Amino acid sequence: MSSHLIPDDPIATNVAVTRDALHRPLHDLRISVLDQCNFRCPYCMPEDEFHADYEFLSRKQRLTYDEILKIARVAAGLGVSKLRLTGGEPLLDKKLPALVRGLAAIPGIDDLALTTNGMLLGSAAEKLADAGLHRVTISLDSIDETIFRHMSGGRGDLGKVLEGIEAAQHAGLAPIKINVVVQRGVNDHSVLDLLDHFRGTGHIVRLIEFMDVGNQNGWRQDQVVPSRQLRDQVQAQWPLRRIDQSYPGEVARRYQYVDGQGEIGFISSVTEPFCGDCSRARLSADGVLYTCLFANQGTDLLESLRANADEEELTDILSQIWLQRADRYSELRRPEVAEAHVLRKVEMYRIGG
Ligand code: GTP
Ligand code: 5AD
Ligand code: SF4
Ligand code: SF4
Repeated sequence: MSSHLIPDDPIATNVAVTRDALHRPLHDLRISVLDQCNFRCPYCMPEDEFHADYEFLSRKQRLTYDEILKIARVAAGLGVSKLRLTGGEPLLDKKLPALVRGLAAIPGIDDLALTTNGMLLGSAAEKLADAGLHRVTISLDSIDETIFRHMSGGRGDLGKVLEGIEAAQHAGLAPIKINVVVQRGVNDHSVLDLLDHFRGTGHIVRLIEFMDVGNQNGWRQDQVVPSRQLRDQVQAQWPLRRIDQSYPGEVARRYQYVDGQGEIGFISSVTEPFCGDCSRARLSADGVLYTCLFANQGTDLLESLRANADEEELTDILSQIWLQRADRYSELRRPEVAEAHVLRKVEMYRIGG
């Protein structure tokens, strides 16, 4: 192992922890299994670009399960204990439980989660739980049929998503989290209804500030509803109490309803960036490793994998990438930095948020 690995890190007992240039450990690997999605959320995959002839990655261009497992094992050896499967929409991959089974068996992985839009969760939840998935996070932007339909690009069926959430609950994929991207003038006025729907269910709703990820969501600062403002609105209806983070580097600020009806969270990447604790790496479906959600380039691991690099070689490659990492885009976000990134940032549907 190289000299910059710190074997006596208190967070790890038997794994040396790799720290980046800003001293942040690598704890969390997010794996995008495919770039396709059955939704066309205008802020992520607008229909006019992602039309019927759009060419998504072919099967050959995508990592195989064996390749994904290899990278995940290497990452676990470098300190990763949390894995999240994302897409596009990961449940479009019907064989996903087989991958889950392999990932769940990796020593050192104590949190294995999946992000989905929930449309296909109804039939998949039980199989995923049997395979060893711990929990799911569902992206659901509104509980109002019309707004939801619009925000899913006309593709979403709210009833089906709610059935999917129920199936996940039956299967024990808890705690279930509901991610809501809030856009001013689009769904901000329906947030309280959504919170009301999930109060008392045990599910944790997280309200996310709309971010300038990717290049095609037409992001403008005035579309962001600052978490502080939302929190005031929620407080006026249901008083809240701040609670501690559940693990270091958690992106959401956690609150409880004072009346005992559960937990909500605020993810404030625009108004209160959290790069200081960022311990996440992201693997795209075609094998590129990104160290920031706003990266304009990553490291292609596919070539090494297809050249049959062994786990030792991959460990070297991954630890070098992490050691050199100094990303903190959200903290540096300024018009001139944002402009420099324009046209070049990685797209959200390629790395799944
Ligand atoms: P838990 O493990 O359940 O706490 O969630 P998580 O940290 O894996 O977060 P999740 O994937 O549910 O992310 C929710 C949202 O937070 C994403 O869709 C993004 O909008 C935002 N987010 C997550 N990670 C980052 C990050 O590293 N940087 C920024 N800027 N935003 C992030
Ligand atoms: N800002 C914040 N969150 C986003 N997501 C997609 N695009 C954005 C954005 N511009 C979220 C989705 C989902 C996760 C995969 O990423 O809502 O919860
Ligand atoms: Fe699909 Fe999620 Fe992107 Fe919507 S935000 S298009 S559900 S990947
Ligand atoms: Fe991490 Fe980049 Fe997000 Fe900052 S902007 S929290 S460095 S992914």
